[in-house]
Amino acid sequence: MEPLTQFLARLPKIELHVHLESTMPGELLDRFARRQGRRLPRSPGELYCCSAEDLSDFLAFLDRICSYVGTAEELALVAEQFALSCSREGILYAEAILNPTHWPQFPPAQIIAALTEGFDRGQATGGAPCAFTLSLSRTQTETEALQLVETMAACRTHRLAGLSIDGNEALTGPTGRRFRAAFQRAGQLGFGRTVHAGESSGPEGVREALDLLEADRLDHGVRAAEDPALVERLVREQVPLNICLSSNLALLYRDPSQHPLRRLLDAGAAVTLNRDDPTFLGSLTLTEELRRAAEFAAMTREELVGCQETAARAAFCSAETRARLLKTLADFHRTM
Ligand code: ADE
Ligand code: ZN
Repeated sequence: MEPLTQFLARLPKIELHVHLESTMPGELLDRFARRQGRRLPRSPGELYCCSAEDLSDFLAFLDRICSYVGTAEELALVAEQFALSCSREGILYAEAILNPTHWPQFPPAQIIAALTEGFDRGQATGGAPCAFTLSLSRTQTETEALQLVETMAACRTHRLAGLSIDGNEALTGPTGRRFRAAFQRAGQLGFGRTVHAGESSGPEGVREALDLLEADRLDHGVRAAEDPALVERLVREQVPLNICLSSNLALLYRDPSQHPLRRLLDAGAAVTLNRDDPTFLGSLTLTEELRRAAEFAAMTREELVGCQETAARAAFCSAETRARLLKTLADFHRTM
């Protein structure tokens, strides 16, 4: 049988859960910082070495590194480089998350324009087709959330795929009611809806995401495994779970044996595999993330392809793009 690394290099890959804030190489940020007459806190090669102790630490550090991006052109370059890095490792299609609260220097309308420009340029020069969701922070108000959705409607582009929510639920407590109207409005406008839940929240956060926010898919969702009835529901409704094993092992599970990836696969959950925060995880590639997942959960090759098919079905893309992704995966499957 073909070695796993060779198989994964060849596998057409799809990624739905990766934060653009966590894709900026230290060298690129160093260039941007110098343009502002500033210096990074550490050398570019070591920028991401001091890994955060917990999610709150980590989110505060994200604010800091985003401040080095000073112009819309630099933000477009971040998007362009991400698209190019995806195609270099055989990612067919990716959806990145950007949370405007990490970027107070740019109004959301400017962010939408810059990412669209960057992803367009990336694809035109051989990069993977990419789209993005804009993410609310759990600390925002209902009015701010509704404002963001109205800006998304007014400034919509072919790259803007949906609304998401991230941040630390352990600090804010449940926020489903506060964001219900914004998520409803996003749904009416035809945007995809994805929610970080079941990471810093337990099963109750996952229920809120489904019942109050009507999420089309969940980012993480792994802590749903604490509640067997909820897992049954996720399987029955085939709610896509955008799981990030390396991120979870760094921030969430002190004991790796507690991670439920294998249990969720065995239960028949709709699992996709993703990086979440690659620069903070040692410049993690999706190929390496898949290798780790394969090893960790003893995944078969059928399961690895299955996760890509699940991602193709869960993507907030056009019907034509979905058909193309599924066809590429079916063609690949025949070569196995
Ligand atoms: N923003 C970036 N990474 C995140 C994570 N793992 N959880 C919540 N918000 C995030
Ligand atoms: Zn995430």
